Amino acid sequence: MSNILYDFGAGRSDPSTFPTEALQAAAVKVIGEQFEEITQYPGNLGHAGLRRAMAEREGQREGVTIDPDHMILTNGSMQAVTLTAEALQENHGDAILLEEFSYPGTLSAYRSLKFDMVGIRLDEGGMRIDHMEEELERLEKEGRRPKFIYAISTYQNPTGFNMPRARRQEMIDLAARYEVPIIEDNCYADVHYEGDIEPAVFALDDNPNHIYLGSLSKILAPGFRLGYIYARPPMLEKILARRHDAGSNYLASAIAAEFYKNGIADHAAHTNPVLKNKRDLTTAGLKHELDDICVWSNPVGGLFIWVRIPDDVDRKVLYESAQANGVNFLPGTAFHYQNRNKPYLRLAFGHLTEQQIEDGIPILARCLRESRTSNEARSFETLFDEA
Ligand SMILES: Cc1ncc(COP(=O)(O)O)c(C=O)c1O
Repeated sequence: MSNILYDFGAGRSDPSTFPTEALQAAAVKVIGEQFEEITQYPGNLGHAGLRRAMAEREGQREGVTIDPDHMILTNGSMQAVTLTAEALQENHGDAILLEEFSYPGTLSAYRSLKFDMVGIRLDEGGMRIDHMEEELERLEKEGRRPKFIYAISTYQNPTGFNMPRARRQEMIDLAARYEVPIIEDNCYADVHYEGDIEPAVFALDDNPNHIYLGSLSKILAPGFRLGYIYARPPMLEKILARRHDAGSNYLASAIAAEFYKNGIADHAAHTNPVLKNKRDLTTAGLKHELDDICVWSNPVGGLFIWVRIPDDVDRKVLYESAQANGVNFLPGTAFHYQNRNKPYLRLAFGHLTEQQIEDGIPILARCLRESRTSNEARSFETLFDEA
């Protein structure tokens, strides 16, 4: 049996906001009304009602019109990550660009597809355009054009940055110059707490080679296993050509579509303040416990806080002692595109109770101090000082 009492590991939303009764009612209704469709295979694009709901939501947020027939429902956005990479890949060893720290599920998929991943250095605004340009230039000199740029530009996992609009435009301009499509993974877009909503790439640039990925995992629940791709022809057909599974779960899609019939923003308006409060508790705990030796992100959306820890922390000892004391987190290594052991950890705060956050952070802080070889104050000012 696990002895983890404070699980800052997995990125999940708050289970107490799960809309049980509304979903039960939706399930009864759609099984009664759509049993004929449920007895058939859903087809490549998937449930039309859910595609309409997602197209409407994305269009609303981004201020553009989206054709629901350019939406493909997938088995979580993880299938979307894999499918789109397969569609753009030509050979093993093809180069792709991505954030130096990125989502481990994506890294694992790209590793098994044998891409040559080029990690782009980060600062508070996301991928550094100067470094991206340097790498694109280097690859061009080697006669290689990267197959795509994978970008989690909004409330990034794991670092929490939100790329400012001007930098998004610079990334788009650079991608256009080198003729590289952007795969934008925007699964945290509606987990928004405060401040400006930065536009998605497709809202800034109508280049049909860009691909957009979304998910219901963070705004509803990962157990639905529903995500989606927004791609325009001919990219749409190119992606669909890689699909061989006869479509995504129709029943789950029908329930979600029924639940969302009055719009997605309603549920987010209920869940986001709960999550924001947990973010605040986590950062307040860190400030109280670790201000003299660590720095961390203060994300304006998403589910994660990225913590830069002192260099002299023995990271193996820290992980083991945290586990032994009931605290789980993910170490920086898990997010590095080359699995390098870097002095960071990620705290996911969405699914813990407020009490667990308040109790867990001081235990983590004690383990962290005990795993150091000194008591020295921190020698870095920002999250992205060279580590
Ligand atoms: C950036 C990013 N992309 C994709 C996923 C996969 O989500 P799912 O397959 O549940 O939609 C996650 C999950 O944490 C994620 O953080």
